[in-house]
Amino acid sequence: QDNFLECFNSTSYSKHSIPVSEVVFTNESASFSSLFRLSIRNLRFLTTTLPKPLFLVTPFHESHVQAAIVCAREKGLQVRVRSGGHDYEGLSYVSSQAPFIVIDLINLRSITIDIEDETASVGTGAALGELYYRIAKKSSIHGFPAGSCPTVGVGGHISGGGFGTLFRKYGLAADNVIDAKIIDFNGRIMDRSSMGEDLFWAIRGGGGASFGVILSWKLKLVSVPSIVTVFNVQRTLEQGATHLFQKWQNISHKLDQDIFLHVTTKVVTDFPSKKTIRLSFTSLFLGPIERLIPIMKTRFSELGLKRSDCIEMSWIQSVLFFADFSIDTPLEVLMERSSPQISDAFFTAKSDYVISPISQKGLEGLWKKLLEEEKSELILTPYGGKMSQISESQTPFPHREGRIFGIQYLATWDNANETEKHLSWIREVYAYMKPYVSKSPRAAYLNYRDLDLGRNYGRNTSYEEAKVWGLKYFSDNFERLVRVKTKVDPSNFFWNEQSIPLLYHYE
Ligand code: FDA
Repeated sequence: QDNFLECFNSTSYSKHSIPVSEVVFTNESASFSSLFRLSIRNLRFLTTTLPKPLFLVTPFHESHVQAAIVCAREKGLQVRVRSGGHDYEGLSYVSSQAPFIVIDLINLRSITIDIEDETASVGTGAALGELYYRIAKKSSIHGFPAGSCPTVGVGGHISGGGFGTLFRKYGLAADNVIDAKIIDFNGRIMDRSSMGEDLFWAIRGGGGASFGVILSWKLKLVSVPSIVTVFNVQRTLEQGATHLFQKWQNISHKLDQDIFLHVTTKVVTDFPSKKTIRLSFTSLFLGPIERLIPIMKTRFSELGLKRSDCIEMSWIQSVLFFADFSIDTPLEVLMERSSPQISDAFFTAKSDYVISPISQKGLEGLWKKLLEEEKSELILTPYGGKMSQISESQTPFPHREGRIFGIQYLATWDNANETEKHLSWIREVYAYMKPYVSKSPRAAYLNYRDLDLGRNYGRNTSYEEAKVWGLKYFSDNFERLVRVKTKVDPSNFFWNEQSIPLLYHYE
């Protein structure tokens, strides 16, 4: 421990007005627990049995990140990097290979919006809500196409892809990155021109953690109309939800790209106390009600959408709506780093892609599985639109043309003793769905990280071993990611349980 602190104190990088005691916290210091806990989103990874980092480093300046990397390397410590802490397997703050430190970027979250230039410069410690808030403060006709949950960090989210309600119109968050700043294993800071196009390609969907510490993004803002429309139409199985879903899976990816219409499911107790599944058809339309109603009548009349189901609002209010806040909530709520709904639960999730509609029999079996789990949920996200116009190799994120929708399976619970039961349930659902989803490989979304797909047990996982999960996340882009990794991090310093492997063994 003393060695790392000594090194941190003595590097030229750490010479700053801020005392080191406010930047580096040992796991025995008074502030450690609250700082460490602040960005943990899944209680599964807050147990006493998991190893804690030796140090939590909370840089105020990029030179603090340089000092942490140089000293961790010199002292043989592993590094984990945390932005918003939403990693589904906790890889930004837990490690199976001790000793390690966590660089938590929470203080590096400045945001500058340039409306004339239509760009945003964002420190990677910022959360999506902060970005949306800052954009809305400057303009009511600009937005950014990224995820719906305001506390998600831009560091992990954008480097893993990042989709949300605008993605059928504008693509992923990663598709809208113009420049980035990254620190490599030598502590060298590079921008797009000095890192080169290969590394710039890799960190827009390949996950940043395999390559270095991304300090900031320069993002392209997109246009949104001053009035958008949202609706949420709900039907239980008894109210014909399966029939509606059948129609939805045939048309949702072909709709005008101004319409995002996703489906979520919940187990509910219907009158008279019968457990059933309720499907919510929730939409953001980039325009007024008058334009939406005729489209829905022609393309999806079965939903029976009425004017009274629809609410017109600004784009930033639609952000509140999709984050489950009332649209009258003061926008400042988007600046909050955590929310009790997602900070105080145990959860597990998996992902799939559907390339041809799921049969009636398949759906009936799926509903049955969902009913076995009290707090099960599906999020079914239609693709198409802009996503089909971008080639599979444009970024490492390969799930483009031909995907009808993505599935996220989720289970949430409150009691640590039940963890194994829920993990078994989600594995069973995943096994059940095999015939109905993409094959060879069965594709998955990196940002819904899943260690059941495969993992590195040490630094020397071979390319062949890692292909098992690498092809699922990245398809044919995996090979290029391995080549970039081998070039930019030849000693595999930025290793984790699912980092991109090297082409050859490093001794
Ligand atoms: P976290 O800090 O845990 O980082 C995730 C990974 O990125 C880790 O490997 C970490 O080391 C690495 N990393 C983080 N910052 C880095 C940096 N600066 N440089 C290098 N590596 C870095 N996704 C989506 O596409 N659309 C959505 O709507 C949602 N919604 C959503 C809601 C909720 C409640 C959760 C928990 C998750 C989502 N997600 C999502 C998934 C989300 O995009 C994914 O978990 C991101 O990786 C989270 O990024 P964070 O920075 O918050 O996580």
